[in-house]
Amino acid sequence: MNARATVQASEASFICASDVCKSYGQADAKVCVLSGINTTINHGEICVLFGPSGSGKSTFLNLLGGLEAADSGSIQVGDQDITQLSSKQLVEYRRKELGFIFQFYNLIPDLTIRENIEVGAHVSQAPLPIDDLLHNLGLWEHRNKFPNQVSGGQQQRCSIGRALVKNPRLLLCDEPTGALDYKTSKEILQLMEQVNRQYGCTMIIVTHNDAIKRMSHHILRLHDGCIVEDQMNTHLVPAMDLEW
Ligand SMILES: Nc1ncnc2c1ncn2[C@@H]1O[C@H](COP(=O)(O)OP(=O)(O)O)[C@@H](O)[C@H]1O
Ligand SMILES: [Mg+2]
Repeated sequence: MNARATVQASEASFICASDVCKSYGQADAKVCVLSGINTTINHGEICVLFGPSGSGKSTFLNLLGGLEAADSGSIQVGDQDITQLSSKQLVEYRRKELGFIFQFYNLIPDLTIRENIEVGAHVSQAPLPIDDLLHNLGLWEHRNKFPNQVSGGQQQRCSIGRALVKNPRLLLCDEPTGALDYKTSKEILQLMEQVNRQYGCTMIIVTHNDAIKRMSHHILRLHDGCIVEDQMNTHLVPAMDLEW
């Protein structure tokens, strides 16, 4: 099942999860959510994470993001094992390496589209130029509007901008198109594909949309806290050609 993880420890590997376990609760109430995750994710991959509700996708993403701690196992990201970092080092890790994109955007309502992206820039030592990003994300003419004055798709573009402006090496996306209609989802997927190519960041996308696996380099499927599928996709389909 996890043959790939062992064959693949190449110089291109970026993330390596080994025997990662996570449970919640104690004694009789203990629920094992991840039971020994092993996988390797390469630099620059779009990696899609599938699985039924409750299978542990968000938990795995939160562990990769250093938002929660594993019970055991190691998670190597770049040259550090993030399970060994102090809470101060984890703050630094999130600040430097990570961008988060969520289903419900989490924008600050009192800030304009531009200011929301600036929030991301403030926590970075080497932010990307905001004007370029606003153009690339198709938000230039909306830059002075507030989130409630633009569409859901534009709000998600803004949240992608806020994550991206830090120029992170890793983008963690939890159901980024979950709240969007078909046409807008497709636009956002095209944008994510463009962002992956243009900025070279590794992306891990949790989704329920099966079509997304066709545009992804790497497909992971979780079931009951175990990886039951770990495959590379050699026939990439451009996001604009996806249908579902
Ligand atoms: N903070 C928590 N406390 C207790 N149980 C949790 C917590 N977070 C998640 N769980 C449980 O862990 C399981 C996996 O959750 P999650 O990772 O959110 O799954 P998914 O994202 O695949 O739907 C679920 O059964 C959920 O109820
Ligand atoms: Mg989830």
